[in-house]
Order: sequence, then structure tokens, then C-alpha cells
Amino acid sequence: MNGIKTVSDGIYWIGGSDKRLERFENIFPIPEGVSYNSYFIDDEKTAVFDTADISVSDQYLENLKDCLDGKKLDYLVVLHMEPDHCSLISTVVALFPEVTVVGGAKTFTIMEQFFPEAAGFNRLEVKEGDTLSTGKHNFRFVAAPMVHWPEVLMAFDDATGSLLTADAFGTFGALDGGIFADEYDFEKDFLDSARRYYANIVGKYGMQVQAVLKKAAGLEIKALLPLHGPVWRKDISWFIDKYQKWSTYEPETEDTVVVYGSLYGHTASAAQALASLLREKTNSNIKVYDVSGVDVSYLIGEVWRCKKIVLMCPTYNNGIYPPMENFLSDMAALGVNSRTFALAQNGTWAPATVKLMTEKLQSLKNVTILEQSLTIKSALHKSDFESLEVFAKAIAEA
Ligand code: FEO
Repeated sequence: MNGIKTVSDGIYWIGGSDKRLERFENIFPIPEGVSYNSYFIDDEKTAVFDTADISVSDQYLENLKDCLDGKKLDYLVVLHMEPDHCSLISTVVALFPEVTVVGGAKTFTIMEQFFPEAAGFNRLEVKEGDTLSTGKHNFRFVAAPMVHWPEVLMAFDDATGSLLTADAFGTFGALDGGIFADEYDFEKDFLDSARRYYANIVGKYGMQVQAVLKKAAGLEIKALLPLHGPVWRKDISWFIDKYQKWSTYEPETEDTVVVYGSLYGHTASAAQALASLLREKTNSNIKVYDVSGVDVSYLIGEVWRCKKIVLMCPTYNNGIYPPMENFLSDMAALGVNSRTFALAQNGTWAPATVKLMTEKLQSLKNVTILEQSLTIKSALHKSDFESLEVFAKAIAEA
């Protein structure tokens, strides 16, 4: 009973938080943990929207049984088939064999891939525009293909104005006792995690997010109920505006981020000297990152936040310093666009990374690569300060 939270009239949060998982999808570090949200509908018919990750199964199943309090479970609605939400489907059906599993055609195809026994489940296939009534609540399904899997559905409850958004509007970060965004200082506690989650997981699918936002604009949304992170019941437009910016690749701020690779500290030192000049010239916030010292998912989050990106990199085996190459590949894979890049290279005998990074960046859409670059030979010296000044000026004025 400890884990159940009231979301609104007849809707209950029955998820769980995991602070033990090191990497989400075995890729992204999550020192802040993550929550797996599931929503129980207590109505003439009972329903649960999505299950949860197996790591929180004990808490989740206890919550579900407590909510039912001896009643039967009528519907298990599956909005998303990624295992962090679907891993307990067979367990729930085994516990409540009379339940009808609700999902789209693609949902059931994927379900049978993960759970061959799903072929024998009672099922109700729905598509966009279809409705599921539980009594007072009436859920309208909205297709959200490729946000970020092909089968994703959202569901809008006419009775409460709740939009169950699947992974959209989710964030990394375990919940610490509260389930509502307004119970936290969201900007301080969650915004960086929400942006990192969006950019790395949904970022490639900006056009598909835009399509869903257009559909959502026609709904009288009073609450956003995502599968990860806090529920939104106040200032919803503030968070929708973030999604609007992120999905159109509009930089969230005018800030500049400097990302450097450095074998022995010389390029790092040059990056700090540049950052100092940029602060003087732009009067804006400058963040400096060592590409070897921070997981690339954080850098991707910063790319979504910042307008200008400075890459400073040594030449390595006649190529791009490998951690920087990984960052560039990730940007290409996620479809980064509409940013301004400035490039600096360091090389002791044959610096080549401005040319090589330019070639990589040219595959991105709508990016500006400043003509003014910077070349360092081994280490930055006083004699280089004029070039550094010119480079900083070009970035500041870009
Ligand atoms: Fe949270 Fe796409 O699963």
C-alpha cells in the first residue's frame, strides 16, 4: 500500500523507482535513478496502463493487488512494448487470466515476439480514435508512432483531461516520495535529466514528436502522465514548450558549450583559455567538458540546450581523437541539426582534425561551421593568443 499515489479521481500511480540500475538501456548512466510509472484505473471496470520494469516487480505487483483489493482486473492496456514497461505482462496475465489485454496491431506483433504465450491472451485491438470506457473514464487512443518505438499509443481520458503519454514527457530520475512535478523544484532537480532523456532516447524523432504535439493541441489536457518521472498537473504548457523547442531542434538557450579532447592537458588548457575569452565577449554561460571524462549522453543533452558548440580536438592516428569521433557519430545518429559549430585542432606534427571534423559535421542538416578555426601546435603559448582572440571573436559574433 506504501507505493500507491492518487493522481486524480479514480487514477492511481502504482509504479516504482530504481536507484540501483547503473545504466538505462545498458547505455546511459543514471546516477539519479529512474522511475517506471504505471497507472491503475479504479472504475466500474478496472484497468491498468502498462506494467513496469522487472526490477520493481515486487512493489508493482503488490500495488496492483492492493488497488484491486479482491476485484478482478478487466483491462491491461499496453501503450509501449519496450521491456522497461512490458516485462511483467505475462506475470500480470498469469495472475489475472481473465484480463483483456488492449493494444494496437503492432503492439500484439511485438508482444508475441517477447512473449509467444501472448497469442493466447484475451485481446482487444485498438487504433487511433478508438475509445475504451471503464465507466466514468473514457480513454481515446492517439497513435504516436516512433516516439520512440513504432507501436506507441497515447491515451486521453475525457473525464480527467489526463493524457497518458508513454515515454514522451518522461525523464531520468527516481521519484523521491512525490509523483507530481510541482512537488519538486523541477528545473533544479529534473530539467537536465529530462533534456538528456529526450535528446538521447527520443531526439532522433523530432518530426514524429511534432506530429503528436499537433494532435495534442486539440485536446483539453489537464495532466501529463508519462511512463518515467513526475506527473504534470500544473504549468503543463511550460513543459510542452520545452518539447516544442527540443523537437524542432531550436536551441533552448543562447549558451555555448566547449567540448575538448586532450591526451596530456594541452588542449584542455587551450579550452579553458578560450572559455575565459568567450565569457568576456558574450557575457553568457559557457560550459566546458572533457570528452573523455563525461558520458556522451550528457554532451548530447548539452547539444540540445546550447546554440553554439565548440569542438577542440587533437589528431590521433591521422584521424579524430576517438572519444570525439564517438561524440560526432552520436550527433549524426541522433539527427542533430540547426546548430553553429566552431572547430579547433591540436597536432604535434600533422594537425588534421578541423578538416576531418568538418567532413563529419557536413552530414548534419542546417548547421553552420565557422570558417574561422584555430590550430595549436602541441601547446598553446603566448604567441598563439592573437589567434585565440580572433577565434573567440568569431564564435562570439556568430
Ligand atoms: Fe521507457 Fe521506450 O521505454
